[in-house]
Amino acid sequence: IRQLVKQRRPRGFPPGPSPIPVIGNIMSLATEPHVFMKKQSEIHGQIFSLDLGGYSAVVLNGYDAIRECLYHQGDVFSDRPSLPLFMKMTKMGGLLNAKFGNGWIEHRQLARNSFRYFGSFQKPLDQKILEECMFFVDAIDEHKGKPFNPKHLVTNAVSNITNLIIFGERFTYDNCDFQHMIEIFSENVELAVSGWAFLYNAFPWIEYLPFGKHQKLFRNAAKVYNFLEQIIRRFSEGRVCNFPRHYIDDYLNKLDKSAGDLGTPYSRENLIYSVGELIIAGTETTTNTLRWAMLYMALYPNIQEKVHMELDSVLGSEKSPSLADKKRMPYVEAVLHEVLRFCNIVPLGIFRATTQDTLVSGYNIPKGTMVITNLYSVHFDEKYWCDPGTFSPHRFLDSNGNFVRREAFLPFSLGKRHCLGEHLARMEMFLFFTTMLQRFHLQFPPGTVPSLTPKLGMTLQPLPYSICAVRRQQ
Ligand code: HEM
Repeated sequence: IRQLVKQRRPRGFPPGPSPIPVIGNIMSLATEPHVFMKKQSEIHGQIFSLDLGGYSAVVLNGYDAIRECLYHQGDVFSDRPSLPLFMKMTKMGGLLNAKFGNGWIEHRQLARNSFRYFGSFQKPLDQKILEECMFFVDAIDEHKGKPFNPKHLVTNAVSNITNLIIFGERFTYDNCDFQHMIEIFSENVELAVSGWAFLYNAFPWIEYLPFGKHQKLFRNAAKVYNFLEQIIRRFSEGRVCNFPRHYIDDYLNKLDKSAGDLGTPYSRENLIYSVGELIIAGTETTTNTLRWAMLYMALYPNIQEKVHMELDSVLGSEKSPSLADKKRMPYVEAVLHEVLRFCNIVPLGIFRATTQDTLVSGYNIPKGTMVITNLYSVHFDEKYWCDPGTFSPHRFLDSNGNFVRREAFLPFSLGKRHCLGEHLARMEMFLFFTTMLQRFHLQFPPGTVPSLTPKLGMTLQPLPYSICAVRRQQ
């Protein structure tokens, strides 16, 4: 923190809104920080700064600024900020929160290999995801077309894909311990960008106050780490060196091999942090995307009908979807892309920091500056999107109905630290969505339309809603 304070607004630092004494601009982030930041960029420019109560952050807005920094200056913008909250949570180790350097490289590589290897240990990964899709639609069927809140079911089904890779097993949908862990972990994803979290980063001594949401965050984290430690111990029983069964075995083998090497980034602690990060990064995001997708299908029956028509013509009612069918389903692809664009699952990305002093668009940004990537502002960038405030899958189709990639589409961010799970997430979203819509028609309970206002946090999720999944007659 001392380093962050010292580097406050040097000459040539990007300008920003006037701060209130002591707490700076923290209060402005209370409601919809991504929307506030986009509005500020219209006043101060695509690159501007915020005072977060004694330390400054640079905010990048719009596709051009984000590409300039994350892509063209990839090495410079690839660190994570040493904020007191992150230091306390993961000591800047693990994977997602790790400082840019050898430890991060090794952990990212190990996780990437596990996705490839354990995903397809006995069967191709898409086959395994399809098995989970079947459990998922059968569980939906148990509601017999009556209203239900899909949140828990989607969370359980989605988390099982990362569970297969990390633990080599899926958990049944009635596993309360695991569910409780995910619940409090995702509560922390919300709390991590609350006013209290920003206050803690600015004034770490508030740790000693007996009240405040940051205390809840610490308590939750302690419970999550305790649970993960136990479960890691259980799943590593029977480990045989050189025959890893899952990510945990692989990690522990690496840890054993590096015993005695003082510089090794592998440790039991970093294993717990990485497992936690993979579980939450993989579950929270994909779950929220699918929950939004369900909501928008029920809200726009004409769009849902087009999805049904495409599914019927490519798959019929019997054949299960496979990744090979993706190319023949441009409309489904367009819908999923529009959900990711419009709903902004991770609106501000994950906070970055600079690895060295740099110059961008004439501004000086010193080493160690916290950088916020406003991904929402990319997806609502008027330079690249026509009428961005309208939900329209057609923007991803050409006049012949073929799917077209769009440049200013960055739900998984960009550059060296872009989402590690993008490929996995795309597979999951396609297979869960198509399996579900092949079997069901989604509609709101008669006379109800749920709120479209997102619940705020590091991720944006819909407020709890009820939906009816009615079996289709084809
Ligand atoms: C990082 C989005 C699914 C693992 C990120 C970042 C975003 C993101 C915006 C921040 C990158 C940055 O620093 O700029 C998403 C979305 C998903 C998704 C929208 C689903 C729709 C997944 C899945 C996994 C995963 C399924 C793994 C199981 C990670 C990891 C990082 C990350 C490990 C940190 C990468 C690093 O620091 O090197 N994701 N993600 N994500 N994501 Fe995802």
